[in-house]
Amino acid sequence: MNKSTLPVKLLVFAGSTRKASFNRQLAHVAATMGRAAGAEVTLLDLADFDIPMYNADLESHGTPADVMKLKKIMFAHSAWIICSPEYNGSYTALLKNTIDWASSPVKSDPEWSSGSKAFVGKVVGLLSASPGALGGLRSQSHLVPLMLNLQCWVAPKAFALGRAGDAFDAQDDLKDEAQRKMVQAVVEQVLMASGRLAD
Ligand SMILES: Cc1cc2nc3c(=O)[nH]c(=O)nc-3n(C[C@H](O)[C@H](O)[C@H](O)COP(=O)(O)O)c2cc1C
Repeated sequence: MNKSTLPVKLLVFAGSTRKASFNRQLAHVAATMGRAAGAEVTLLDLADFDIPMYNADLESHGTPADVMKLKKIMFAHSAWIICSPEYNGSYTALLKNTIDWASSPVKSDPEWSSGSKAFVGKVVGLLSASPGALGGLRSQSHLVPLMLNLQCWVAPKAFALGRAGDAFDAQDDLKDEAQRKMVQAVVEQVLMASGRLAD
């Protein structure tokens, strides 16, 4: 909550569209925790968006409708949780492509002429999950400067879920209480900071 007593609007999404994605599972956990903490949560699935590979020639014919839809959803949420898979020690092409489109100015629409409009001032919490021991931690270290460059506030607390193949139960919840607490701490810090910035 912020002083206006309105619930914080929290956007949660994963940088994977794989059906059995660990990061999608982690996003589900974070969204459930966000709701329990009183936030108004949107759990967004990038698989629901038809977004091509970024190409300025393609963009010159018009920004795709789903990019506009995504920009508006991002803009409407003051707090974000990104669940980032790790590919080759970094974040996924899907995540980068999504952020590149969402941060590209829309020349034909003065309302969206600032590329960073959907990003500025967002409080962003980073989570990651991987079958490896480091839990995708290196993807977060690349994502931090990207989000800062777009004028987001990156929460100091973050969590990387290692050995993710064994971490979830049949209800897509985390089996381990200590890991649940780590995720919860990130969610709560993001909601707290977002509420404070809105005061
Ligand atoms: C091209 C590629 C590179 C990968 N590199 C890493 C890596 O550097 N570190 C890591 O922990 N896992 C790596 N993985 C394994 C991913 O963590 C694993 O596929 C994971 O399930 C992806 O996230 P998701 O379950 O959310 O789709 C890689 C996978 C692919 C396909």
